Amino acid sequence: MIFDTHAHYDDEQFDIDREELLGKMQEAGIETIVDVGASIETTKKALELAHRYDFIYAAVGVHPSEVAELDDDSIELLRGLSRDENCVAIGEIGLDYHWPEPEPELQKLWFKRQLNLARQENLPVIIHSRDAAADTLEILRDERAEEIGGVVHCFSYSKEVARECLKMGFYIGIGGVLTFKNARKMVEVMEDTPMDRILLETDCPYLAPEPFRGKRNSSLYLPYVVQKMAEIKGISADEVISITRENARTMYGLNKQ
Ligand code: NI
Repeated sequence: MIFDTHAHYDDEQFDIDREELLGKMQEAGIETIVDVGASIETTKKALELAHRYDFIYAAVGVHPSEVAELDDDSIELLRGLSRDENCVAIGEIGLDYHWPEPEPELQKLWFKRQLNLARQENLPVIIHSRDAAADTLEILRDERAEEIGGVVHCFSYSKEVARECLKMGFYIGIGGVLTFKNARKMVEVMEDTPMDRILLETDCPYLAPEPFRGKRNSSLYLPYVVQKMAEIKGISADEVISITRENARTMYGLNKQ
């Protein structure tokens, strides 16, 4: 069954039908979902969902666009949340230079602090990196992130950058963008990356695959991404599902339980 490694069912876009939608997942072949925090508030909501549903786990972290809300007490607050039995990663954390705010120095500071938290708490990281490849790689190297491990989610860079991430032991998270008509770069990354390092993700409610591009995304659309991966790799959809499931369980430490 399918493992969605990155979702935001805490998002208000799901307020109208969250329960109904999540109630359909298991029957539709969605076995496990990781709901990823992006601020203190959404992290708490992710943990609530993880407590409510057996098949949902949570990631605890603050997205680079939200780090202006953090202060010196925040790491201890996040540490407390990360010790919840349903927390499987620190994320999403990283750098996003698409928008001018918050300033890069502040983003870098909290990226490093949250990487350090992951190291101390022995959890993998979920990295968000947009228009910031060089600084992301530099921080991952400086912080010896290969000892922490995790995923570069919604990967948007070249295959050369992907190779650098793979060298540090990271997984590459791929979702709906792979199905877009202008996804040549992503197709190249998919071709170049060994299957045992690929994670399947939605990032829902964002980034719905074709033919639903622009609509609200959910894990129910993952078969469209699976199909595209299968075509590119020349393997069956079932193989894509079982390999990415195994990768996800390994990365999130669920095979140890
Ligand atoms: Ni996300």
